Amino acid sequence: MALNPPDQYRDDRNLSARQRLWAHQEPYFDIVGWVLGLAGVSMGTRVLDAGCGNGMYLRALAARGVRAVGCDLSPGMLRATGHAAVACADVSALPLREAAFDVVLAVHMLYHVPEREAAMSELRRVLPRAERAPW
Ligand SMILES: C[S@@+](CC[C@H](N)C(=O)[O-])C[C@H]1O[C@@H](n2cnc3c(N)ncnc32)[C@H](O)[C@@H]1O
Repeated sequence: MALNPPDQYRDDRNLSARQRLWAHQEPYFDIVGWVLGLAGVSMGTRVLDAGCGNGMYLRALAARGVRAVGCDLSPGMLRATGHAAVACADVSALPLREAAFDVVLAVHMLYHVPEREAAMSELRRVLPRAERAPW
């Protein structure tokens, strides 16, 4: 059986099954809170969640009053987000303006992307110049 069958993200059934497992971690680790803390988001931060899946981070951002845009290759995933601001797009060719966001998230998704350099270049392009890491 392939570890990453190409249609595994056609909808959010597989991802949400994994998320239900994580809810039973012992001890529990709040990965979403940890990631958002590292990213330093707060009200007013413009966030792009690239490869947003079924919107676990989008919901946590909304609960903090942070406006975010989600993007994902899978229309089925995007439907499951229930989020208004989403784009069906490949992270390697984002249909988004330069410097449109203050923070980009790409959580548990870059290992799926064949064109990783293009993806990194796109993620940098949508950040303000000062926020772009030197890599
Ligand atoms: C493991 S899920 C992670 C979802 C979410 N980031 C999370 O942590 O809950 C990976 C997601 O990346 C999306 N994805 C894979 N390749 C992509 C690409 N090239 N561009 C945009 N999204 C992609 C998949 O459709 C899937 O929803």
